[in-house]
Amino acid sequence: MRSQSYRVVISSLLLMTTSFAMAQSSVITTGNTLKGKEIYDARCSACHSVDDNRVGPMHLGVFGRKAGGVKSYRYSDALSKSKVIWSRETLTAWLTNPEALIPAQRMGYSMDNAQDREDVVAYLATLKVIK
Ligand code: HEC
Repeated sequence: MRSQSYRVVISSLLLMTTSFAMAQSSVITTGNTLKGKEIYDARCSACHSVDDNRVGPMHLGVFGRKAGGVKSYRYSDALSKSKVIWSRETLTAWLTNPEALIPAQRMGYSMDNAQDREDVVAYLATLKVIK
């Protein structure tokens, strides 16, 4: 009896450590920001710019912001009403398949390559407003 309940405790401790490690790793961005900028310039800048609204909204300060958060840009209803906060996870999901993350959104673009997504997300994370 005793040894069995110890085993349960140990395995749940192990589980906790693993999920803690996973939570930790999700905070650290592993993308290459310089590669990310190249990809951004080549593929995103057709519709986006860092500090101007074009076909899509400007990206300055996007990391940590609510989706649909640029006041001067006219988003789809889907994006304006969305409760998504842009983070490494949500941006990766968005770039993988925007429609799956926020149905009825209007961005007709997605990225197949996981490393390219990591790099672009790392670059987006650098676009901060320093106050
Ligand atoms: C064909 C045009 C087009 C391309 C190319 C494009 N986007 Fe978009 N993007 C849009 C549009 C349009 C929206 C607004 C969607 C809406 O309102 O539903 C958008 C929205 C976004 C948003 C949400 C921003 C916010 O303020 O909530 C992010 C993040 C984003 N795009 C990232 C990217 C990245 C990174 C790339 C390049 C890998 C990219 N987009 C390429 C058109 C594009």
